[in-house]
Amino acid sequence: MDDRTRGRLTKDGIRIHDPADFAGMRTAGQVAATILDDLVPLIVPGITTADIDQAIADAIVGVGATSATIGYRGYQHASCISVNHVVCHGIPDVKKVLQDGDILNIDVTVIVDGWFGDTSRMYVAGKLTRKAERLIEVTHDALFKGIEAALPGNTFGDIGFAIQSFVEANRMSVVRDFCGHGLGRVFHAPPNVLHYGRPGTGPVLEEGMFFTIEPMVNLGRPETKVLQDDWTAVTRDRSLSAQFEHSVGITAGGVEIFTLSPKGLFHPTYTL
Ligand code: MF3
Ligand code: CO
Ligand code: CO
Repeated sequence: MDDRTRGRLTKDGIRIHDPADFAGMRTAGQVAATILDDLVPLIVPGITTADIDQAIADAIVGVGATSATIGYRGYQHASCISVNHVVCHGIPDVKKVLQDGDILNIDVTVIVDGWFGDTSRMYVAGKLTRKAERLIEVTHDALFKGIEAALPGNTFGDIGFAIQSFVEANRMSVVRDFCGHGLGRVFHAPPNVLHYGRPGTGPVLEEGMFFTIEPMVNLGRPETKVLQDDWTAVTRDRSLSAQFEHSVGITAGGVEIFTLSPKGLFHPTYTL
C-alpha cells in the first residue's frame, strides 16, 4: 500500500495519523524551522529576495532534505518571500532589493523522509516602524490564539473564530482568500483551515490530525488580488500584510507544534 494512504480518513476526508507519524512530522518541522532560524543574519537592507531564496535552497540541499515548492504546480523556488503589501506567494526576484524598514514573510516547506514541514514567519530589514511592529505582533498572537483553540473536541470553526475575533478587536483584518491546510505525507490535504469563522462550526478536531494554521492579517481591508505572474497575492488597498505559519498535530490532550523555532527566533522581537 502507498504510504500516503495509510490509516483512516474522517467523514470530512481528514487523515488520522498514528502516534509514530508524529516523529516524522517533528523531524520535518524542525528542519524547516532551523532553516528559518539561520536566515536571521541575512535579512538586511540591500539583499535581494533571490539571494535569500538561494540560501534557502542551499540549506535544504545541505541537510539532505527536499524542497516541496520547487516544481509544485510550476513554482520554481525554494521559498515564497512576501514583502510589505504582498500577502503571500511572493516570488523571489533578483530585482527585489530589501529597503530599510521592509517587513517580509519567508515561507519554507521541506520534505524529510516523506513528511512535509511547512512554516513561515516575519522578518524585518533594518529599522521596524511602529505600525509594522503592531501588525506583526497582532498576526503572531493571532496564530497562537488559533493554536490554543486547536484541541481535540473543538471544531475548525473555533480556530477561525479565535483568530478573527482577536484580529478584528485590534482593528485589523483577516484575509479570506487563502487558508491553512491539512498536510503530512502530502503538501496540501483536507481540511481547508479558515482563519475566520463561527464557534462550533466545521469538522471536529481529533487526535492524529496534522494541519497548518497560517493567518494573513492586513492593516487595511481584507481583499487581495493575484498579480499577472499568477502567484503574487497583494492587498487590494496596498496596506501592509503579515503572516505566521506553524504545522501542528492534534494529540490526545492538546496540540503539538512541529515547527517551533529551536533558537526561539519565531517572533521578530529579537530585532528590537
Ligand atoms: N508554503 C505555502 C503554504 O503555506 C505554499 C506555497 S506553494 C508555492 O501552503 F508553490 F507557492 F510555493
Ligand atoms: Co501552508
Ligand atoms: Co507555508
